[in-house]
Amino acid sequence: MKIAIITGASSGLGREYALQLAANFPEVEAVWLVARRKALLDELGVELSLPTVSVPLDLTNEADIALLSRKLEDEQPDVRVLVNCAGCGYLANVAETDPALLSRMCDLNMKAMTLVTRVALPYMGEGGHIVNVSSIASFCPNARMTVYSSTKAYVSSFSLGLREELRERKISVTAICSGPMDTEFLDVGEIRGNSKMFKTLPYCDPKKVAAGSYRAAKKDQAFHTPRAFFKLYRGLAKLLPSTLVVKLAKT
Ligand SMILES: NC(=O)c1ccc[n+]([C@@H]2O[C@H](COP(=O)([O-])OP(=O)(O)OC[C@H]3O[C@@H](n4cnc5c(N)ncnc54)[C@H](OP(=O)(O)O)[C@@H]3O)[C@@H](O)[C@H]2O)c1
Repeated sequence: MKIAIITGASSGLGREYALQLAANFPEVEAVWLVARRKALLDELGVELSLPTVSVPLDLTNEADIALLSRKLEDEQPDVRVLVNCAGCGYLANVAETDPALLSRMCDLNMKAMTLVTRVALPYMGEGGHIVNVSSIASFCPNARMTVYSSTKAYVSSFSLGLREELRERKISVTAICSGPMDTEFLDVGEIRGNSKMFKTLPYCDPKKVAAGSYRAAKKDQAFHTPRAFFKLYRGLAKLLPSTLVVKLAKT
């Protein structure tokens, strides 16, 4: 069976990826929705036109990733689309952040994305698409979100390297570098109301980010950065010394 796997599907951008999947990939016959909150995945499943499977997993837990691996082994699906969207980011200086939260950002944003990709790849073939959700935070470290921005630099770098590795297999890999979106991310990370930068920046609409991501994946683009403002930032961050940009990019 041709399937899509979407992590972080219970809210925000991941939910949008699920809602827009069928219109973009009509060949997909079912979608596996992954996140911890099963009730939200089940509710979303009712809204979708495609058959869905709720896969409640805590992706920071390696044993849960092993469960996903076993499910793939048992069902032998043809994974046409993999969207690695689950992620989190906490606002605070490293020295003042609970080590458990630092670990959670690393485990979810980097390790889980890497391992989910690894376990899905044996089931992906020619014409498959991998969409990895990075961030504008990947362009330059953001003080007060140093660990988060570093994890997203990993996501972008991993995606570009993997894209090259999978070229012969004709599987596209696209990193999505969105600016801020008004989602639960801001509440989970205690960002809302606590960051001048997040108050000042223009916001991205998750609906448009999801639509742009799927367009970019189908065109086999390495990166998708929504909004002209953030495309300009991406260019400047490449041109200017990072020791200067880091001063301007403080959250
Ligand atoms: N919002 C922004 O400003 C912004 C900007 C740029 C990039 N991004 C990136 O966009 C992606 C989606 O974020 P969002 O804005 O949509 O935030 P969100 O609404 O908080 O979504 C995060 C998703 O990740 C899932 N998740 C969290 N911890 C998990 C775990 N341990 N295991 C499995 N799933 C887990 C959550 O589901 P459960 O809680 O049910 O597990 C949820 O579905 C993230 O990678 C984020 O870094 C966000």
